[in-house]
Amino acid sequence: MSQTYQYSHSQALFERAQKVIPNGIPGHFNPVVQKPEGTYPFYAQRAEGARFWDVDGNEYIDMMCAYGPMILGYNNPAVEAAVQAQSQQADTCTLASPVMVELAEFLVDLIPMADWAFFAKNGADATNMAVFIARAATGRRKVIGIEGGYHGSSPWMQALGRAGITPEDHAEIIRIPWNDVAALESVLLEHENEIAAFISSPYHHPVYQDNEMPSETYWQAVEKLLRKRGVVSICDDVRCGFRIDMRGSHEYFGYTPDISCYCKAIANGHPISALVGSDDFRQEASSIFQTGSFWYSAGPMAAALATLQELQRDNAPEKIIQSGSKIFAGMQSIAAEAGVTLQVTGITSMPYVRAEHEAGIEFHQALCGECTRRGLFITSHHNLFVSAAHGEAEISRSHEIFKEALDSVIAEFAG
Ligand SMILES: Cc1ncc(COP(=O)(O)O)c(C=O)c1O
Repeated sequence: MSQTYQYSHSQALFERAQKVIPNGIPGHFNPVVQKPEGTYPFYAQRAEGARFWDVDGNEYIDMMCAYGPMILGYNNPAVEAAVQAQSQQADTCTLASPVMVELAEFLVDLIPMADWAFFAKNGADATNMAVFIARAATGRRKVIGIEGGYHGSSPWMQALGRAGITPEDHAEIIRIPWNDVAALESVLLEHENEIAAFISSPYHHPVYQDNEMPSETYWQAVEKLLRKRGVVSICDDVRCGFRIDMRGSHEYFGYTPDISCYCKAIANGHPISALVGSDDFRQEASSIFQTGSFWYSAGPMAAALATLQELQRDNAPEKIIQSGSKIFAGMQSIAAEAGVTLQVTGITSMPYVRAEHEAGIEFHQALCGECTRRGLFITSHHNLFVSAAHGEAEISRSHEIFKEALDSVIAEFAG
């Protein structure tokens, strides 16, 4: 049996943090989201391969991969050597470095629809730029997105009702359900000559919900409609990128967007995002204004180049999908033996996993918390992530921990 972890150092640090940082921890890992209370650590001390250690010295197999950026394993030697070599020459500098050109060339060779590439820092930089380009190209203002689709924290992408967001921020955004070609067609008709772009991830991966693949003919039908109406197709590959297909996730689903956005896994954790597009949008891509203090940083560009080369050499997306299939099929059969249905939806390299129970989400939250405090770090609200560093040792240990955690939660909810 595994010992359950204690988090006294995390807790002490969190108390200090609350005095100087609003909320203690901003962003992704807000303690309010991580339920049940007391089952999650708050701060990591170090990370290596598929594992990290928290400030209390507890070790975890990481099934969140930094919410996506880690794909080759933390502290990957090839990536870190490339960053160091580049940074010794120049990192953030007055001028861009040659590695920017090399990285753009690599992406243009790698992704069939790409004739050019731009670089920024966050996924939201890329999705914002994609919309600017679409508006510049069409002279139209409106953007269609999917209900529950996430494209970053810029005002137009945030959920209405969140603090600081106004209805005007959403004035040009129309949301339609996922996998609904008829809804797309009717919005395109209703707003003829008003729609600049359709933005969507290649498959639907909302939070707190089972994820959904496209129906068999969905993307082909969408592509046809968008072309007919002159609407720019933006693929938000920020989360899926390089976990499904090296050539872009759209290739896996058999369609061709006009512009694609990348971030997360592109540089194995180093800060960079990319926007790629076809020649039809080259001129508009040159015309928009968007920049940032660190956008010429060459270290992350070297990291991206090394990451993509390693991923390509290893045929990593296919391997990661296979590892994910082993991990989650194993968990499903452990759950089934215990009489629990474990839903695994989306692609197995980044699936949404949910244990069904009459108590609802609380059972699943308790299960994720019990896994975490035994050394298998998983969250209940978000899709999980698998990396190339998740090998046989991680797979078998994750099954052991999952079984212990499940048994303990079943006992807790029965009592
Ligand atoms: C699909 C998708 N698009 C865009 C973003 C925004 O990326 P960032 O947080 O780097 O701005 C995210 C982040 O989670 C995402 O998952």
